[in-house]
Amino acid sequence: MHPRNVFRTPPDFKKLGELYPDLQKHLIQARKDYFTLNFKDPESLKILTCSLASQYFDLTLELPSNRLIPTLPLRLNYLLWIEDLLSYHTTSNEVVGIDIGTGASAVYALLGYQKFGWKFLATETDTMCYESALNNVIINSFQDEIVIKLVKKEGGKLQGNLGSDRYTFCMCNPPFFEDTDNMTGISRSPHRAAPKSVCTATPVEVITTGGEEQFVGEMVRESIKLGTQVLWYTSMLGRKTSLDHILGMLSECGVKRVAVTEFKQGNTTRWGVAWSHEPSIPPLLSPNSKKVSTSYNFSTKNTTAQTIITKLQSTLAQLHVQVSRCPDQSGGIEYCAWVTAAENTWAHNRRKRRKRGSQKRESDGNGSLTQSGKRHCSDEKSSEQTLRNDNQSSDTQNSIDIKSNSLAEKVDSSHSVLDITSSSVSESSKVCLFHCLLSVEESEEGVSVDFTWIFGSDKDCLNQFCCFVAKSICNPDTGSCG
Ligand SMILES: C[S@@+](CC[C@H](N)C(=O)[O-])C[C@H]1O[C@@H](n2cnc3c(N)ncnc32)[C@H](O)[C@@H]1O
Repeated sequence: MHPRNVFRTPPDFKKLGELYPDLQKHLIQARKDYFTLNFKDPESLKILTCSLASQYFDLTLELPSNRLIPTLPLRLNYLLWIEDLLSYHTTSNEVVGIDIGTGASAVYALLGYQKFGWKFLATETDTMCYESALNNVIINSFQDEIVIKLVKKEGGKLQGNLGSDRYTFCMCNPPFFEDTDNMTGISRSPHRAAPKSVCTATPVEVITTGGEEQFVGEMVRESIKLGTQVLWYTSMLGRKTSLDHILGMLSECGVKRVAVTEFKQGNTTRWGVAWSHEPSIPPLLSPNSKKVSTSYNFSTKNTTAQTIITKLQSTLAQLHVQVSRCPDQSGGIEYCAWVTAAENTWAHNRRKRRKRGSQKRESDGNGSLTQSGKRHCSDEKSSEQTLRNDNQSSDTQNSIDIKSNSLAEKVDSSHSVLDITSSSVSESSKVCLFHCLLSVEESEEGVSVDFTWIFGSDKDCLNQFCCFVAKSICNPDTGSCG
């Protein structure tokens, strides 16, 4: 789950039931003090979604029984990823998004406005969904911020609906399926566990000619014509094969600015794809669907998150990377920031550090200092991949183990100190080695530091950067991270 997703800490159903009597009726006591509910029952699911929307986001939701009930954690993951994309570059202070196929809930627009202050144009083809979405906007008094538009199925996904206005992003949870056979689960690969929740969607909401590939493919084609009228075009995808198809299409169309991610929620996995035609965003590495989300991680014991954050602050300042604190740290992590590097400053710093180390060894007559740092740091890591900070050089003394995870299930919360600069990356910058999400999490096992790739031109650079930061923080002089 996204590091800033508030649902990383599962809701306490017992407490929620005390606050929402309608939900209380649907709770099932599984053990002493542990309550759950029947996720296969549409009514239970509907009341849960409405209770969570109210409790966590102060939103009132009214949902018809015969339309899709949105799962809020997954919807929030997608919005948080859009926030990550926009953290690199926005063309104006006011963010205006388009939600294609807003559904009966208008969930993205409501959450997007309430949590991030983004205005929305939300389109819908189904009359019942349109009326329900409009009702949800009205009961929350968001008519000035969210426009719901009934559009024609045979019209464009974007074209014809936007007028001459400019938009910061578009998002879409497209109808996934080509036909009812697919809808009943034939498309699901056998090794994937069945979803826990019932699917309440009707064919009109989730079936479209050519399935999601064709739907999002049309968005790609329209985006070529619309160009920079929309800064980031994005969509969610339900199948990895669709991601391959869309990435192939973007590559054929010569689109140079593409980002991908993976959204995981329980047994459900979805993918996010984003592309831009904005020339002031530097060209990015073409992603592939093999390793969609990458994060580099190191962890330390016998220290506090605050100590690590302070050390990160000084290391990142030395490296002249841009650090911008995330405005909201609501997922239970200690610290969360976007880090952007336009040039490799750590290779130079690494040489300086090596030189300092050898001078110190000479003056101490003691060659074991960096070695102790290595031991301490690597002792605490079960590494999937051992990386060296000089990219496989022969500097074995300084080797350190770092985890390279696919989107790490970690992180989020409260305060922090580390705000080196919050200015956005300058429009003229032509290179983005990486734009990543840094998060620091404290647990009983120690303090974990994650760098999760958002986009950039060089994934290896993020890997090397993480190694450099890990070694700087795990003090080679004392062998201590504390
Ligand atoms: C999978 S549902 C997503 C609903 C909602 N956004 C959510 O995430 O819960 C897809 C929605 O897109 C609508 N839709 C289908 N074709 C559309 C089109 N061409 N333009 C706008 N909406 C469309 C469907 O009626 C349906 O409500």
